[in-house]
Amino acid sequence: MKKTKIAGIGHYLPERVVSNKELESLMDTTDEWITERTGIRERRFGERHKETTTTMGARAAEKAIADAGIQKEEVDFIIFATLSPDYFFPGCGVLVQRELGISDTEVGALDIRNQCSGFVYGLSVADQYIKTGVYKNILLIGAEMHSMGLDFTTRGRNVSVIFGDGAGAVILQPTEAEDQGVLTSHLHSDGRHAEELAFLSPGCHGGYHGAKELYGFSDSTFDTVFVTQKMLDDALIYPHMNGKYVFKFAVQKFPAVIMEALGTAGFQPSDLDMLIPHQANLRISQFVQKVLKLTDDQVFNNIQRYGNTTAASIPIALSEARDEGRVKRGDLVCLAAFGSGFTWGASLLRW
Ligand SMILES: CC(C)(COP(=O)(O)OP(=O)(O)OC[C@H]1O[C@@H](n2cnc3c(N)ncnc32)[C@H](O)[C@@H]1OP(=O)(O)O)[C@@H](O)C(=O)NCCC(=O)NCCS
Repeated sequence: MKKTKIAGIGHYLPERVVSNKELESLMDTTDEWITERTGIRERRFGERHKETTTTMGARAAEKAIADAGIQKEEVDFIIFATLSPDYFFPGCGVLVQRELGISDTEVGALDIRNQCSGFVYGLSVADQYIKTGVYKNILLIGAEMHSMGLDFTTRGRNVSVIFGDGAGAVILQPTEAEDQGVLTSHLHSDGRHAEELAFLSPGCHGGYHGAKELYGFSDSTFDTVFVTQKMLDDALIYPHMNGKYVFKFAVQKFPAVIMEALGTAGFQPSDLDMLIPHQANLRISQFVQKVLKLTDDQVFNNIQRYGNTTAASIPIALSEARDEGRVKRGDLVCLAAFGSGFTWGASLLRW
């Protein structure tokens, strides 16, 4: 049976570097607090009037397409994972098709809204199409422009210091090679925690029980108007995150789903050549590394330089790991993610 291989990979990071010190000038925070709690020293922010999630995704896609040695017109399906789309609708899939100048091909474009685990979910969807022979050159992108939607006042500091902008992309193709390709993928979710890490408004929830109970919203917080002045005043238009709650689940679910993937394919943590965890927080990655008894050589982290780039973090990290020679042909690689939803998942592959 055919397997799915990553035939090309690329990433794009905006030029502007934003240090923790720079954030100190915007809100009541310190370099020490951010570094100690998250490991992040700096992140990239896109250029406000020139870059979007779509354009960054397109730049990463162009690199992945070139890396695969194909023409962009050969892409036969597009999957785009993001939580920070250019528009509420339509999604970034069709926009990136236009940005790449391949709209004439009329290939399908699917948007994935699984936040931090979006890339792992997207890879799993693409894998089904490739294995069954439906498509031969799937473009999978993870991209985020967080800097446009964060609260950079002290009120929003627990969230805004964590996130950064960037994009990563892969071209997925079928392979008959025994020692290459996706071996297994495992996807999970638990919607009971939906509002613990969420961007609530604007939306049609109208005070839907989760948001109402968790945040103590009154009925008057929401009315029939999609966007209200009160939503703006109460900062409901920014992401909400219960950091400690998210942390607690992440450190349980990451190791569990990695072990599930390894066990299904008949491996142990010591067999792993490289674990690419979603770059949520360096402390989470370090905890996972310790629980699984992995060496520093077996785990790749770059959150120190880019912050949490959500759906883009795994393809950016994988692309850098490949470029640095830390992921080589035939290596056993695990991609694992946890995030809003909660959703989490892992894919095990031979590079
Ligand atoms: C967000 C996170 C770093 C916060 O660390 P924490 O140890 O849980 O800190 P708390 O939220 O309890 O806040 C501790 C104090 O720091 C303050 N604080 C929050 N953000 C701050 C900031 N950027 N700078 C300075 N102080 C800050 C809080 O107001 C609180 O002050 P108080 O004690 O006076 O009330 C941590 O919870 C975390 O990493 N969670 C996981 C988040 C994550 O991975 N999200 C993405 C998932 S994909």
